[in-house]
Amino acid sequence: MKDPLLAWRKEFPIVETCTYLVSHSLGAMPRKAAGYLQQFADEWSSRGVRAWHEGWWEIGRTTGDLLVPVLGVDAGTISMHQNVTVAMAIIASCHRFDGPRNRIVMTDLEFPSNIYLFGGFRRYGAEIVLVKSPDAMRTDLPALLDAIDERTALVPLSYVLFKSAYIQDAAAVIEKAHRVGAQVILDVYQAAGTVPLEIAALGADFAVGGSVKWLCGGPGAGYLYVRPDLANTLEPGTVGWAAHAHPFEFEAAAIEYADAPERFQSGTPNVPSLYSARAGYEIVREIGVPAIRQKSLRLTRRLMDRAKAAGFRVNTPDADAQRGGSVIIDVPNGQAVADELIRREVIVDYRPGAGIRMAPHFYNSTEEIEHAMDVLAEICQSHT
Ligand SMILES: Cc1ncc(COP(=O)(O)O)c(C=O)c1O
Repeated sequence: MKDPLLAWRKEFPIVETCTYLVSHSLGAMPRKAAGYLQQFADEWSSRGVRAWHEGWWEIGRTTGDLLVPVLGVDAGTISMHQNVTVAMAIIASCHRFDGPRNRIVMTDLEFPSNIYLFGGFRRYGAEIVLVKSPDAMRTDLPALLDAIDERTALVPLSYVLFKSAYIQDAAAVIEKAHRVGAQVILDVYQAAGTVPLEIAALGADFAVGGSVKWLCGGPGAGYLYVRPDLANTLEPGTVGWAAHAHPFEFEAAAIEYADAPERFQSGTPNVPSLYSARAGYEIVREIGVPAIRQKSLRLTRRLMDRAKAAGFRVNTPDADAQRGGSVIIDVPNGQAVADELIRREVIVDYRPGAGIRMAPHFYNSTEEIEHAMDVLAEICQSHT
């Protein structure tokens, strides 16, 4: 059966040079990203300062809006930031932690930035509640739900866990959080571009993610969605002149917030990154996440079948409905085996406590999956 998505391979030069199975970490660069970067350079060179008023100043909104169908949100609800960590900091700065509702509740399987960043808010009175997980794979959902109560301000929750590709029950967490007056920050970084999302329908208060992975957008383009009926009630403390209602009046006074999404901005937008990110967004939009997901489920299933047949432990949920886009294979001496795979041009990565992560995307072929698993088996045999 012919796979129509393979027609996209020619738009991603790196996939013709190696077996590129690392899109959960750094998605392949689309050829047309170079064109967008050239466009940025040409505008900078030929238009100079006039470029700010010929599209650069609004580039956060126009680029963010490209993600509307990928995230399942309305236009005008997304602001762009350097990365997820910065977007999370802006959300946290909308809250006070000096009253009874001072808790930030999350699990120990969240991306470590959360632990570092929210830990920093302890100095403003925040209390961090870290719910322990039984293994590297999944969250103890009842324990997480129990930990969310009237003292909880924020619940940062990865939609797909980075270590295991486990899809969390976001609806259950949002329901509990809202019942007790807490807000949920959905981190969709490991989902956006490979797992279909309906963030507005889910009722998440905030969603954050970046472009480096499945969106093939490169670094420097993190996005922040805020629930529209909540957005204009929030007053971020981490704020700059791009969040002002009249930034070009340069008023030396307390900020007058712009309406959302601009009120969540900081300073000068990261124009080159927002240009290069567009290429990946446009391609993902054109293919459509449901088609990407269909293929991803087929290829991840094949990876898991091969891994199990070879006797490897798979640290990824078996059920399609619970599995994101990667497969995590735990083999002895995982780091050394991953290094050897990369040396043999099978590009993967390794996460301690989890295993070797492999991530087929729309541009990968079935033959590449078979090849990667052949090489993995060969390396493991020669290491024993
Ligand atoms: C789920 C998740 N959240 C957050 C991050 C970190 O994002 P950033 O580097 O944009 O702050 C990552 C990066 O790997 C991630 O996988």
